[in-house]
Amino acid sequence: MLAMLVLGIETSCDETGLAVYDSRAGLLSDILYSQVDLHADYGGVVPELASRDHIRKISPLTREVLAQANKTLDDLDGIAYTAGPGLMGALLVGATFGRSMAWALGTKAIGVHHMEAHLLAPLLNQNQVPPLPFLALLVSGGHTQLVKVDRIGSYQLLGESLDDAAGEAFDKAAKMMGLGYPGGPMIAKAALNGDPNRFRFPRPMTDRPGLDFSFSGLKTHTLNTVAKHTPLSSQDIADIATAFEQAVVDTLFIKCRRAVKASGIKHLVIAGGVSANQRLRARLEQDLDAQVYYAPNALCTDNGAMIAYAGALRLAAGETSSLAIQTRPRWPMIELAPIPAGDSPSG
Ligand code: KG4
Ligand code: ZN
Repeated sequence: MLAMLVLGIETSCDETGLAVYDSRAGLLSDILYSQVDLHADYGGVVPELASRDHIRKISPLTREVLAQANKTLDDLDGIAYTAGPGLMGALLVGATFGRSMAWALGTKAIGVHHMEAHLLAPLLNQNQVPPLPFLALLVSGGHTQLVKVDRIGSYQLLGESLDDAAGEAFDKAAKMMGLGYPGGPMIAKAALNGDPNRFRFPRPMTDRPGLDFSFSGLKTHTLNTVAKHTPLSSQDIADIATAFEQAVVDTLFIKCRRAVKASGIKHLVIAGGVSANQRLRARLEQDLDAQVYYAPNALCTDNGAMIAYAGALRLAAGETSSLAIQTRPRWPMIELAPIPAGDSPSG
């Protein structure tokens, strides 16, 4: 890849993420400010509060991330910001800030696709580049997708959730048990003490052909189980958390196994917040007939580093965003342009 120093800005939801990525030296600095406490009382992310908090944090964090990298604004070759998908107001903060600053500095800007950035995060560590084509399981709070990656930037959607995303299901199940937000890590923690034989939850849509997912039935099943055992003891919570986690992990595993068999591709990247789940990683690594790749935990959930990295790849390939500040709350990944082979990490 062309030598580049890129500032990455992530503001698509409830985390303000800033990072400085150097295409030769790697990640120089990475800061994350989470708004979790701000939204805790409301039981979910309040979009207007999220936007306002991004505005408060984005300038001081930019200064801090540059100082940590020992760089100044003038050193930057480009600025990458999340342009979608995500919350409109939250996206606009990062995009307006990043695009305007690039204009003021006379440097390049690139609007990055949040899910492509998640997908590429495991490749940030250059020791771990899967050969093309490979499969990717994207599991976050907003998306659950199985994708075939023909080359970087060229994605075929093999299957996706017809209702809730896997992370969203974790969050809702945790809320039912009073475990707090984000639910994924809370459920995983509670499940450590659970009895795996007490409950068996359904594996939705695994008895039907195809690679689509559905998690709403599992949500209803969890709600019914919670209602039946209320008031919940800590053992009830642990047992329900275990059954829930096993059902999600098993469902994701079954679909990945199906995708590997159908495609003959034996390399799978897992990315997005749920890819931090230890049971999911272990299950895929043990039982899937494929090599599994994932990012370190901090790069699985939202962060500025993945935005800087994805932006650096596209900037190095000559792509830039126009002066117009453009954000897309909904943005199918298949609409992205392939990155020329010579500039992709596997090229
Ligand atoms: O990728 P991400 O940070 O944000 C989105 O783009 O949505 O994903 C957040 C999601 C949340 O739903 C959270 O509960 C889930 O990832 N998550 C986990 C774990 N860590 C985060 N789910 C299961 N196990 C985890 N360890
Ligand atoms: Zn995300």
